[in-house]
Amino acid sequence: MGQTVAKVILFGEHSVVYGYPAIALPLAGLRMTARVEPADGPATLTCLGWSGPLRQAPARLASVVRAVDAALEHVGRPDARLHVTTVADFPPERGLGSSAAAAGAVIRAVLDAFDTPADAEDLFELTQAAERVAHGHPSGLDATATASTAPIRFEAGRTEPIAIDVPAWLVVADSGVHGSTRETVGHIRERHEIDPQGTDPLLADLGRIARDAETALRDGDAAAIGELMDAAHARLAALGVSDTHLDALVATARDAGALGAKLTGGGRGGCVIALAESRPAAERIAQALEGAGARRSWVHAPQAREAAA
Ligand code: PMV
Repeated sequence: MGQTVAKVILFGEHSVVYGYPAIALPLAGLRMTARVEPADGPATLTCLGWSGPLRQAPARLASVVRAVDAALEHVGRPDARLHVTTVADFPPERGLGSSAAAAGAVIRAVLDAFDTPADAEDLFELTQAAERVAHGHPSGLDATATASTAPIRFEAGRTEPIAIDVPAWLVVADSGVHGSTRETVGHIRERHEIDPQGTDPLLADLGRIARDAETALRDGDAAAIGELMDAAHARLAALGVSDTHLDALVATARDAGALGAKLTGGGRGGCVIALAESRPAAERIAQALEGAGARRSWVHAPQAREAAA
């Protein structure tokens, strides 16, 4: 068996691809579990809402197929045939890291089935090989965050745990719209090539916002974090990776009393996150978001506060 989790990016999506820092939070309650069994006939895959022969998997699962192949190469059994199944507690293509989580879980399951140990670096490299198929030049943030047990700060391939002690709650709400990270990352790349003068300052702003957020997270300054979330959403929207649904949900969260709100992950669909000053406030915001069309929402303590609630 192999297991990973969903993640939310608090700060730094997209700008992290250009070397700026990002802060991400694994969501321990939202798991991705993979199981593998030997197959007598052709290999099969059951994953993220699709089931069939592994070699006929649709393009959106190409990274998971690559994960199976990379793991089999790693264990020295490239021709082994397997039934590979993943089960997720969270939806795919919503900026919650489903592709990296699925790849990471499958890799761990294959290594486990062949009793092959791997260190964190091996697991990261194998997951990155799969993620490269998903969207070209992944920063590595998703591969790291979906395998983490604690919040992380990630910059240019380097990961550090980050202490978060904020008297606040996080609402994650799913717009229900599928987002394609490949498309949004490609959009910013093109924009950057055509108009570097217009694009670089927005990416640099997102980097500065992530650095300021690090200080605010360490200081437990919830109001400052909320303001920085609003500022980040404005820059992401200016880069063209928000959409009318996400903008409307962000506005709803703010009207319902959120300290701040932003899209999270690749954007143009997917999820928004909002910061609330208490659990009841978070629940009110979650309800308002569902009333405004969000498919689902989750309330999460940014630090280990759940048990005490
Ligand atoms: O949409 P997700 O969960 O795959 O997050 C993508 C994060 C990006 O910063 C947009 C891309 C990357 O490689 O870090």
